[in-house]
Parts: sequence; structure tokens; C-alpha cells
Amino acid sequence: MKKILEPNNAMYLLPAVLVTCCDSSGKDNIITIAWTTNICRKPPCLGIVISGEKYSATIIKDTKEFVLNVPGAQYLKEVDICGQTHGDKVDKFELANFTKIDALFVKPKLIKECPINMECKVKDLFIIEDSHLFIGEVLKVHIDENLLDSSGKINYLKLNPILYGDKAYWSIKDMIGYRGFSQKI
Ligand SMILES: Cc1cc2nc3c(=O)[nH]c(=O)nc-3n(C[C@H](O)[C@H](O)[C@H](O)COP(=O)(O)O)c2cc1C
Repeated sequence: MKKILEPNNAMYLLPAVLVTCCDSSGKDNIITIAWTTNICRKPPCLGIVISGEKYSATIIKDTKEFVLNVPGAQYLKEVDICGQTHGDKVDKFELANFTKIDALFVKPKLIKECPINMECKVKDLFIIEDSHLFIGEVLKVHIDENLLDSSGKINYLKLNPILYGDKAYWSIKDMIGYRGFSQKI
């Protein structure tokens, strides 16, 4: 098998999520991002990467708060819209026709149409060239109970997340095993 040798990160398929933020005057915004990762369990922390020149990055740098909202694939068009438009020029809540819900601990709104919402406070910021990696401590997670199976775990088929890689959107087809299954056969 011939392998292509190229320094690149295009092979990563990551969930497309909607990050909400709110500037100091109370103006809400939404940015679509795919560059996210878990960072730490205790305290629960996650990372989001936004290019520093973007309007949303400026807001989050200033207010140190965001909400990570996880949409299902039925909102693919809205996810694309929030990733192609700019909050300093348009109201993306209006454009995508999303409903605002007050968060419990932060100013940015939860998106009602997203079944998972994670309220985050920025704990740290790492900058590499223009990439801003915001480390958010998760203060509260809201999960639609309809997503859960009988043992309380998220059924990702019900969520039907949007995966994004190499400028294309993908969906998941099935759950194919539990971690550690290889030890039981
Ligand atoms: C599927 C998808 C994923 C994206 N992922 C990121 C990302 O991880 N980081 C980023 O800075 N921009 C990402 N973008 C681009 C921003 O969403 C886009 O530049 C947006 O218009 C910025 O909004 P703002 O001007 O309101 O801040 C993505 C766009 C799409 C459509």
C-alpha cells in the first residue's frame, strides 16, 4: 500500500457543534466549529479552537464564557449557515431560527433545538500562530432525556451527530462495540 506523506490534519473526523457567546453589551452570537476535544475529567474541561481574528474569538477572549451546543443532523443547514456568516454583520439566532434559553451559570444562551448544551467558563487560552485553543471548564451539562437509553447512557444514534472532515459532512451508522470487548472473547 502506497502512503501519501504530507503533514496535514485533514484525516480527523470531528463533530460539528454550535458554540454560543455573548458580548459585554448582551449581543448573542453562534459560531459553528469542529475543532473540539475533551481535556480533563476533574474538573471537567474541554477545548475549542477558533481562529483569533474571528468575531466569536474576540468575544470569548473578552467575556471568558461560552456554551457548546451539540446539534443533530436535522439541523445541518443551520450548522452550515452559522459557519458561513459573521455575527458582527448578522443575527445568527434569527437567521437560523434557533430558540434562546437562558443558561444557569453563564451569559451566553443555550440553543433549545440542540439536545446537549454545555455551559463553560474559560480557564485557559493557548495560542499557536492564529489558532486560539480555549480551555473551558464545564459548569453544567444539559441533556435531553430522550437521548438516553435505559442505563442512562447517550444513544448517539438518537442524537445523530454531524461529523465534519475535509470540508464534508458525514453521519454515523451504528454502534459497533463496547470498549474492552476484545478482552471478553
Ligand atoms: C462545519 C464547519 C466547521 C468549522 N469549524 C471551525 C473551527 O473549528 N474553528 C474556527 O475558527 N472556525 C470554524 N469554522 C468557520 C466558522 O464557523 C466561520 O468562520 C464563522 O463564519 C465565524 O463566525 P463569526 O464571524 O460570527 O465569529 C467552521 C465552519 C463550518 C461550516
